[in-house]
Amino acid sequence: MLIKRASDIKSSEITPESVYRSRREFMKSAAALGGAAGISSLLPGLAMAASGDGLRARAPANMQRSAPAAWWEDKFQNIEAAERGGAFWTNEALTPYQDVVTYNNFYEFGMDKGDPSRYAQEFEVDPWSIEIAGECDNPATYHLEDFLKPQQLEERIYRLRCVERWSMVIPWVGFPLADLIKKAQPNSKAKYVAFETLLDPDQMPAQNSRFAIIDWPYREGLRMDEAMHPLAFLAVGLYGDYLPPQNGAPIRLVVPWKYGFKSIKSIVRIRFTETEPQTAWNMLQPQEYGFYANVNPNVHHPRWRQDMETRLPRTLFSSGRQETLMFNGYGDQVGHLYEGMDLARNF
Ligand code: MTE
Repeated sequence: MLIKRASDIKSSEITPESVYRSRREFMKSAAALGGAAGISSLLPGLAMAASGDGLRARAPANMQRSAPAAWWEDKFQNIEAAERGGAFWTNEALTPYQDVVTYNNFYEFGMDKGDPSRYAQEFEVDPWSIEIAGECDNPATYHLEDFLKPQQLEERIYRLRCVERWSMVIPWVGFPLADLIKKAQPNSKAKYVAFETLLDPDQMPAQNSRFAIIDWPYREGLRMDEAMHPLAFLAVGLYGDYLPPQNGAPIRLVVPWKYGFKSIKSIVRIRFTETEPQTAWNMLQPQEYGFYANVNPNVHHPRWRQDMETRLPRTLFSSGRQETLMFNGYGDQVGHLYEGMDLARNF
């Protein structure tokens, strides 16, 4: 079984079992056929055979591309489940896999929600290194493999709330951001953590576009106490398997109490800084996108009221509309970080 601790709830128990299981089984049969390159053209057919569901057929193919080495598969055999009812778990229905991997914001691959899943499939994630730099005693460039091998992977079931007013519930796989920060040993000047996405216009077509609105690379940042918070997570997978390229392979940030744009994808650089780092959306439109970007139903974006949201997917029977919760429902855990701050000014 995928998840180690049988006593704990698994996302396989709250998403249709057939989806979860068939994807794992598919991955195994794909591996048995002998390597990613040789089988990629067969993937849709195989996946359909395994799942009996054509719609889900593309998902395994996506993952196969972002899972090039055997050590990844080993790591994913031993994922620790989130404690049921605990801080890293919600019993809300999971957003179906197909929606999670086809409705994306990843502007490096285009502005349309379907562009990332359409255009990111050739994205190379191996080898991948992450530079740790700035105000720390242990600056280094890690191969992702060296960093991940000793790391225990965990599953966390988090809400994701986009400033555009849609939301999802996603079972991520990864490890606490604090683990990486502790290895880097930030010094006393380190007040913030800055993150950068890969800059590679050959692979990320929109980075070449004259019409691009973002000053690449995509950048994000957190205050040090936010970054050290146990909820802040570095994801390398979702739904028990590798992160598809469109979701930020091979490694992305997940900060569930903040709007989705803080959760930067495909990270290559993490830097400790003394001053607040520049962030992509804030550089573009400072009146619309603040540095903090905490989910807040009382502070509205100029174009989107924030008191309601649509939980995806919408169906014929449900509009998905629901109230937005302060800090996306994580207020008990993170509220103390902002005590005494004017959150309307520091939006
Ligand atoms: N990271 C990079 N590098 N580029 C992006 O365009 N979009 C952000 C965030 N991370 C983005 C990014 C936004 S606006 C959101 S809502 C989330 O990714 C969406 O994550 P998802 O596509 O996995 O749902």
